Amino acid sequence: MSKNFDVVVIGGGPGGYIAAIRAAQLGFTTACIDEWKNAKGGPAPGGTCTNVGCIPSKALLQSSEHYEHAGHAFAEHGIDVKGLSLNLPQMLARKEGIVKQNNDGILYLFKKNKVTFFHGRGAFAKAEGGLYEITVSGAAEEVISAKHVVIATGSTPRVLPGAPYDEKLILSNDGALSLDAVPAKLGVIGAGVIGLEMGSVWRRLGSEVTVLEALPVFLGMVDEQIAKEAGKLFAKQGLSINLGVKIDAVKAGKKDVTVEYVDAKGVEHKAVFDKLIVSIGRLPNTVGLNGDAVGLKLDERGFIAVDGDCKTNLPNVWAVGDVVRGPMLAHKAEEEGVAVAERIAGQHGHVNFNTLPGVIYTSPEIAWVGKTEQQLKAAGVAYKVGTFPFMANGRARALGDTSGMVKFLADAKSDEILGVHIVGPLASELIAEAVVAMEFRASSEDIARICHAHPSLSEATKEAALAVDKRALNF
Ligand code: FAD
Ligand code: NAI
Repeated sequence: MSKNFDVVVIGGGPGGYIAAIRAAQLGFTTACIDEWKNAKGGPAPGGTCTNVGCIPSKALLQSSEHYEHAGHAFAEHGIDVKGLSLNLPQMLARKEGIVKQNNDGILYLFKKNKVTFFHGRGAFAKAEGGLYEITVSGAAEEVISAKHVVIATGSTPRVLPGAPYDEKLILSNDGALSLDAVPAKLGVIGAGVIGLEMGSVWRRLGSEVTVLEALPVFLGMVDEQIAKEAGKLFAKQGLSINLGVKIDAVKAGKKDVTVEYVDAKGVEHKAVFDKLIVSIGRLPNTVGLNGDAVGLKLDERGFIAVDGDCKTNLPNVWAVGDVVRGPMLAHKAEEEGVAVAERIAGQHGHVNFNTLPGVIYTSPEIAWVGKTEQQLKAAGVAYKVGTFPFMANGRARALGDTSGMVKFLADAKSDEILGVHIVGPLASELIAEAVVAMEFRASSEDIARICHAHPSLSEATKEAALAVDKRALNF
């Protein structure tokens, strides 16, 4: 007799573990299956995000920023640091410790919420009598069944043809987060989110970083004005970003990697790097799920096909997170996980794609929500713009971090906020106010009339809102 649950979640990343907790909170008997292993072979729930994504990358971004500040920024504050040196093993050990805290935290949350955890790979076996039978293979072999299944199997890095990851010379995000020495010359293919974040980490720690990007525009998904400003700031920091590049060949040698490419002007190059990060997007992970056994449909791009409510083609089978359409973001996966659990309970869970914030955790950070100026232009929407530079913000001056700006886009007639874009200090935190405002369909005047603490970076948000009506006070 197989163990039966109301809900089985396959995948324990942010989409899966959150869906499982919410389902259990709603009174369902719930199981979550996740196959990620830690270095000792034990369970490490949390998926890409916890193990080789959001969490370890932010840990290294923080550590490397401290190192850079100690070397370059402290002197201005009257703090002289002598004999500064990098203890990379300690930096990596700290990162691993944070990852473990998160893994253990999820196991604790499963216990607290009475979610049964299975460590292993979950695969569909059959559908019979309104139940799905799922095999778990791993540390313990099990067969379990459920009426409702939530698939949250995430994504894996896309391989550049001819340049498979060996995680020694050619690195995915996994290898890029665990280098045991700072490479003198680091190549990065792809100037997307991973390329910029990981490129920033290793540049701060001493690498000469060259980023090679196929597209002729920098950060096409970001508001053009903000992307331009960010591009200038990154160049000033010494990150060499080359746009419109065509990669011809990647050749891994014994100790280095040669990349042959043609630049935007048609000039051929042969660049030799000590390490090469390839960050050219990610692909949905459906390997091992055995969806064919139950007739699970994929879309033309290999994602699990779902409707707006995350329903697959199969009754009571849902899919959330990176394995389905939409931005590959942990908070998007979580929102979908919660919404699906609530829909299973007959509630009306919903995810508002227009108010999903995006953040790039470089320095300065880039954060946005809603429409970009280029999107509004393309859609023929009449809009007003208000911008405010951090240079004119007292708290930013006190912090010693005055780069960047806040930008508001509001409807020309109704003044409803259509988009907010920030490049600057703690943009990841500042954007939350804009998300709340947009969820409540606030106008820029609403934000302009709200009292913001002084001195705070959030005053730049208020001032940018005031600037929509051309009445900024401090600029
Ligand atoms: P995942 O997190 O990929 O989890 C899927 C889990 O399912 C994995 O544990 C996998 O082992 C398991 N699994 C797969 N198949 C099976 C199976 N058949 N049986 C059992 N288990 C299975 N997003 C942000 O929002 N903010 C960030 O700062 C951020 N930083 C990132 C940095 C990097 C370097 C990377 C690579 C990604 C980052 N992301 C970030 C993206 C984020 O990690 C993903 O969007 C998020 O992890 C997706 O969650 P998920 O639950 O869909 O899938
Ligand atoms: P990405 O989609 O952000 O960037 C990939 C870049 O590689 C693009 O600019 C693309 O034009 C370029 N590219 C593609 N093929 C190329 C080629 N052959 N040669 C040169 N350039 C090429 O993908 P990335 O950085 O791999 O990240 C994957 C996902 O992880 C993203 O979708 C993102 O959502 C998520 N992520 C989120 C983070 C965050 O929220 N802060 C941090 C890191 C990753």
